[in-house]
Parts: sequence; C-alpha cells; structure tokens
Amino acid sequence: MEKKIPLNIDGRDVEAAPGQTILDVAREQGIYIPTLCHYSKTTNVGACRVCVVEVEKARSLVASCCMPVSPGMIIKTDTPKIRASQKLIVELLWASGDHNCLTCEQNGNCELQNLVYWLGIEKPRFNVDPPGYEIEKTNTVIQRDLNKCILCGRCIRACNEIQVNEILDFSRRGHRAKVGPAFDADYIDSDCYFCGECVDACPVGALTFKQARFAGRPWEIKKVKTTCTYCGVGCQMDLNIHDNRIIKVTGNRAYQQPNEGSLCVKGRFGLDFVGHPDRLKSPLIRKEKGGELVPATWEEAYDFIAERLAGIKKKSGPESIAGFSSARCTNEENYLFQKFMRAGIGTNHVDHCARL
Ligand code: FES
Repeated sequence: MEKKIPLNIDGRDVEAAPGQTILDVAREQGIYIPTLCHYSKTTNVGACRVCVVEVEKARSLVASCCMPVSPGMIIKTDTPKIRASQKLIVELLWASGDHNCLTCEQNGNCELQNLVYWLGIEKPRFNVDPPGYEIEKTNTVIQRDLNKCILCGRCIRACNEIQVNEILDFSRRGHRAKVGPAFDADYIDSDCYFCGECVDACPVGALTFKQARFAGRPWEIKKVKTTCTYCGVGCQMDLNIHDNRIIKVTGNRAYQQPNEGSLCVKGRFGLDFVGHPDRLKSPLIRKEKGGELVPATWEEAYDFIAERLAGIKKKSGPESIAGFSSARCTNEENYLFQKFMRAGIGTNHVDHCARL
C-alpha cells in the first residue's frame, strides 16, 4: 500500500500521497493559493511565483505548484510575507503590459484582473510600460495582443504538451522575451493548426477568439455543453451563447473522455454554419431533369424519395441502390440507416463517410 506523507498546512495535520505538490494538497483541503502559470495536465514550470507559500526551515518562499510534499513539512499559505511577495509580482506584471480592461475581451474572465482584485491592489505602483507590439490581425479567428501577455507560458505548454503541435515557444530574453511561432512569424504564416488550445489556456487577454470580440461580455454568455458534430470521436465542448447565437466554442478541462477539453480547428471554429443566412431550412427538390432545386416541405421530400427509390428498385433491383451514412450521426441513427438499407431496400450496399 502507498505510504502516506504526513504534513501540516495552515495548522491542519493532513496526509498526502507521494508525488503530490503543496498546491495539490492545498486544493484538496479547500485552501486557496492563487496561480497564474500553473496549467493542469502540463509541466509545472514555476514561472510566475504567485503561488508562493512559507515552508518552515526553507531558505525562501517556495512555489507551491512545483514543490513536492515531504514528510513533516510545516506550510503556511497566508502570511504578510507571502501577500507582500504576491502583490509585488502582480504589480510588476500589471506595469509591464497594456492591461486596459475596458475593451479587453477577457474582462471578467481574466486571472490577472482577479488577482489584482483579490489582493486589493488599488492602482499600479510602478510606471506602466507596455512593450508596444502591434496587435496581430492577419488571421480570421485568433487575436494575438502580446502587450497583454504575462509570459506565463501556458499557451506554449498547451500547444506543445497537450496538442503536441509544437508551434509556440519563447523567443528573445529578459524584458524583450515574447511568445510566438518560430522566426517571430504570425500564426497564419507558421505551421499553426488553429486548434485554439492556446486561447483556452491564456489566463489574460493576450489570446482571444476574434469572432467573440464585442459579441457579448463573459457574464452575459450562457455556456451550453454539447457534443461536436464533426466526426465520430464525440468531443465534449461548451457553446458560448449570447442573444441566441454561438459566439465562440471553448473546451472544458473538467470534462473527461474523449477529449478532456481539447478541440480541433473544426469543432472550435467551424460552427458558424449554425446561424449562417445561407443555411438550408427546408428540403430542396429538383422537380424536372436539369431544372432548378426548389424548396419543398418535408412531406413532399419524403414522398419524392420513397417514390424514386421504389421505382429504381422495381426497375433495376435493390442492388442498384447504395446508401452512405455519416460520422456526424449518432450510433443509433447509423444503426437505423443500415437497417433501412438492408431490411427496407434489400441491399447490403451501405457505407459510412468516415471510410471515404
Ligand atoms: S503558479 Fe506556481 S509559479 Fe506560477
């Protein structure tokens, strides 16, 4: 049996599992430790240091997200020294970027904004000196504003460790450090797949979904969990709805199988057909050979299909008819379709678009 590790956190004697970090244990105990660069299911890099805690006999404050627990540790998560350190970090981050919340798409969802509020910081202590990068507008789906980037590296780890696309990394050093594809290219000129995982991972407004810009504030958005319609994997995702319109699609890492919150470009950005004005709302029938497709009722369409299939079957036999179903249908719908082809039409010529 796994040997438990006894320790004390904020005066509570607890037992931790080997390999757990101080942050893991605190969260299990319902003790809040703020984080910025920590992103679950990726490597702990200890970059931002807002998760610091005091550990008795340690030389300095310790980053709780990457410090494994050890027997007998005495940990404090809420002392004046910790709060002073967290405040300084947050004030420096605030001063080094263009954190103008008024028109930021992340306003209300921003982890830096939340921390400023939680720490009770009234105004920036240092001169605000944003780097002055141009906002990247060369692609149609992701807005990159590196003036708001806090260099936490979450987008890099999401790209490299979760999606394994390996497009993003840090370049340059010191105060000129920035995140991006190789050779400082725009996303559109890189090998980016536009899965949008980096946008989901960004804790601030550096990476945002373009189509959601000015389409609705976070507190006006209703999230509806659904299953992606594109392929048979059945990825779970959240439709972000405002005014009865899908304004963006986000992953939810609390969802488990099959995608654990990750999405591909189609599920993420391919849902504008839902509200598109060109979308067909009724069946179309070509009533005359070579004629125009004209709108029809569902009854007319079913009668037309039944009449034509019966006519072909009578004239040329059931083997002259084939049916193709779709990976976008449910298992039950696909089952019904093959049943219809086999038992109704009388042919085994039935296949599925996933094999095309
Ligand atoms: S969250 Fe621990 S160092 Fe950033």
